[in-house]
Amino acid sequence: MLPNPVRADLPTAAPPPAQPAAARPGRRRPAAVLALLAAVPVPLVAFGAAVPAGAAAPQHRIVGGGTASTADHPWVVGLASRQQFGSGRSGQFCGGALVTPTKVVTAAHCFYDESKGVRVDRPGLKVIVGRDDLRGSAGREVPVKAIWIHPDYAYAANINDVAVVTLAESQGSRPVLDLVGQGETEPYTAGTRAQVYGWGDISGRSEYSPVLRAADVPIVADQTCARDYPGGQDGKFDAKGMVCAGEEKGGKDACQGDSGGPLVVGGRLAGLVSWGTGCAEPAHPGVYTRVGAVADAVRSVL
Ligand code: ARG
Repeated sequence: MLPNPVRADLPTAAPPPAQPAAARPGRRRPAAVLALLAAVPVPLVAFGAAVPAGAAAPQHRIVGGGTASTADHPWVVGLASRQQFGSGRSGQFCGGALVTPTKVVTAAHCFYDESKGVRVDRPGLKVIVGRDDLRGSAGREVPVKAIWIHPDYAYAANINDVAVVTLAESQGSRPVLDLVGQGETEPYTAGTRAQVYGWGDISGRSEYSPVLRAADVPIVADQTCARDYPGGQDGKFDAKGMVCAGEEKGGKDACQGDSGGPLVVGGRLAGLVSWGTGCAEPAHPGVYTRVGAVADAVRSVL
């Protein structure tokens, strides 16, 4: 997570920005393309014109992604700060997954200033559960009691990008997502089917989705990802703590605003949206925190 010199970060004290997007954890080149759902770059223009953020997107027009529901994926949650990001989309700025009735796993960088790389407060932080459409009021906005950041999280190297948020109110019987175990390798076999969920940018132009979306993104071989991200302005892939997902030809990916959101393999939490160059670009798959590398640390605080 290198600070993006191009993009101004969120003026914390500012009124709800018209484009809360600019403030979202996410940098890594404003460029980018379709987020979770993503399509190929070409249809993009038409897509943007035909589907204004907020419209019920015709999911059949999006290659490899579409709308999703918390009814089917009840553990998908959004992190929100209305004070910081405005109320238009309930203040959503990151994703996460409910792993016990009171704990949400998300990305550490969701609590870091994108340009300065320092820990920041998210005033009035809430966890949104059971709300597919952020413009509505379905589900609940749950207050937060504590935030744990992995002790070895390193902003610059983007390693151990995981945090656990403790809810102030138990979510009772809401289904939770189990974690992949420490050291497991099988879920990370190249080509394994995986799904990613979020309310992030669908175009790379700060068009944040008002509705939950999901995309199928196959696991990428570590050696391929190491070649895709040898270390440059955006970051270096480290297979010890990261895993990549997406197709080499691009077209399906997570994007800004999806950070912290779950990458699910076989019904378990295998990754967390962490970083990438642009979004859905060929040879630049999404890079995820490898849950199998931080599972013990996470479990120690559950
Ligand atoms: N850091 C971004 C965020 O905070 C996530 C970027 C993911 N990018 C990608 N191409 N998969 O929302």
